Amino acid sequence: MNVLIIGSGGREHAFAWKLKQSPKVSKIYCAPGNAGIAEIAELVPLNIDDIDGLLQFAKKKRIDLTVTGPEVPLVKGIVDLFEKHGMRIFGPGKYAAQLEGSKVFAKDFMKRHRIPTAAYATFSRAEYSKAQQHLTANAAPIVLKADGLAAGKGAVVCQSTGEALTVLRECFEKDMFGEAGNIIVVEEFMKGEEASIFVLSDGTHYKLLQPAQDHKQILDGDKGKNTGGMGAYAPAPVVSSALLKRIEKEIVVPTLNGMRAEGKSYKGCLYVGLMMTKEGPKVVEFNCRLGDPEAQVVLPLIDGDLFDILSACASNSLRTIDLRFHEASAVCVVMASRGYPDGYETGKPIEGLDAVLSDDGVVVFHAGTKKENGKTVSSGGRVLGVTAIGYGHDLEGTIAAAYTAVKKITFDGAYYRSDIGIKGLKPTTA
Ligand code: AMP
Ligand code: GLY
Repeated sequence: MNVLIIGSGGREHAFAWKLKQSPKVSKIYCAPGNAGIAEIAELVPLNIDDIDGLLQFAKKKRIDLTVTGPEVPLVKGIVDLFEKHGMRIFGPGKYAAQLEGSKVFAKDFMKRHRIPTAAYATFSRAEYSKAQQHLTANAAPIVLKADGLAAGKGAVVCQSTGEALTVLRECFEKDMFGEAGNIIVVEEFMKGEEASIFVLSDGTHYKLLQPAQDHKQILDGDKGKNTGGMGAYAPAPVVSSALLKRIEKEIVVPTLNGMRAEGKSYKGCLYVGLMMTKEGPKVVEFNCRLGDPEAQVVLPLIDGDLFDILSACASNSLRTIDLRFHEASAVCVVMASRGYPDGYETGKPIEGLDAVLSDDGVVVFHAGTKKENGKTVSSGGRVLGVTAIGYGHDLEGTIAAAYTAVKKITFDGAYYRSDIGIKGLKPTTA
């Protein structure tokens, strides 16, 4: 079988790595990919938003399954386009992908289907003064979110009313979020611990992957600026099996049923970002794809053939899949370029990648790398996702294995958090 993966980050490397293990997969293409993915797949120089070009390529190469990593092609309607041409593709259609593509759509959808989430109000640019009044009348902390896609940077948690008014001004007067900020969602601040769950669905049936925790902030102790994600681990004990049942009943099932009630179905992966509040689990956000770096920890934990699983989601046969997991934990530590998530330098040669090849259960997923004169160099903010899969030992041992590997890899200005997974070691209160 021929597979096409769309994207170029650590998540896509994890997809390629797991799909490569399937005896059914003979050839993997990746558009546009990175230096790590190039070791197991043929790179295709097509942009992720060139959905017509990707369709032509998939037809020409007789691709049996296309897997989309990032949200942009999904929100653009790549699944509808591929399916119209009889091509099998893993992901939701354009309507369902609005759960990530538009915060207003997602919030209104949750309201329609009584799915627990933060209270909210929405304001267009024309309602600037009404928005100011709302921020003044509601106590901080308060959260402002751009309606549209903003590459993970569209949400700002404001600690004071003054800060909230400043962010509002930046958005409506200075176009901080561009067009994505034409409408703004103002949300009640939720307190609690966060976790992500991943729902695989074929439109009728669903199955859950292992719950994970991301580490969005740049500094240890969840301080500093938000990033794309500095590391992840799974399974996350904060989501106990009792809590997971509640999440299924109150959030997952109403979301999938709600989509069906609106005449569409949700296929692919639904990422549910959750806050475990005192009143119970509530939705922080929906994404229409797997997380990055969460994919790097949840995909290795699957004890099964990923090609079969993703194909089943794409062809309405998930019921035939017996989804199993390894008795293990996984930890991914992201090594980033100095300066990230602001400006950073690239082109730094990476040393030590060979030194970890013999480390048991360690895989280095590349995020922002490329080959330059035969040498692997950095090419992005997030450079590597050093991942340990601890089959035999507990989370503490898996964290130690990940950091032992991280310390063997160097590049100029390499930065990483030193507390990835620590949250999973403390007793949970939920
Ligand atoms: P989002 O882009 O919606 O995932 O938001 C990014 C991050 O902002 C989340 O992972 C949370 O840490 C935080 N956040 C978003 N919405 C809220 C909220 N209503 N209450 C508290 N924190 C939030
Ligand atoms: N790790 C967060 C995301 O993929 O959106």
